[in-house]
Amino acid sequence: MMLSAETQEKIRAETERYPSRRTALLPALKLAQEERGYLPPEAVAEVAELVGVSHAAAWELATFYSMLRLEPEGRVRVEVCVQLPCALAGAERLLRDLSAGLGIAPGQTTPDGEVTLIRTPECFGACHRAPMARVNEVYRESLTPEATQQLLQELNAPRQQGRESAA
Ligand code: FES
Repeated sequence: MMLSAETQEKIRAETERYPSRRTALLPALKLAQEERGYLPPEAVAEVAELVGVSHAAAWELATFYSMLRLEPEGRVRVEVCVQLPCALAGAERLLRDLSAGLGIAPGQTTPDGEVTLIRTPECFGACHRAPMARVNEVYRESLTPEATQQLLQELNAPRQQGRESAA
């Protein structure tokens, strides 16, 4: 068992709340993710067993919802909004610059496990200062190419220092 007794208990309670077991699957997977930070295959299998559905059904759901994460995330989460107002102000350019500067595609995490880059259609309500990104909980707005380079420096600096002191 990889989930704590407390999470298992919560999942059982969810399962009892719904007339159909499948309906409990999504809240149950979210509970498992809350505990683990993401959903490794063992956790998905365990949730399937607790809810009483097949592993295949649990996998299908886990891969369908973008809010469910199958990979661990970096310490820093960089979410670039690509909703229309941001898109019109250069969100794709911003995403390309960040991708190039970090050396990863959207949806990936840097090999040192530090930064995850995310492309999201979620509007963060900062459209008047587009394009923008949310870096953990902090909004970085009006990300011109110059401001993007500044952000990249900040994101890369602690990792470069780490490499230098390790050398
Ligand atoms: S559209 Fe990007 S913050 Fe609103």
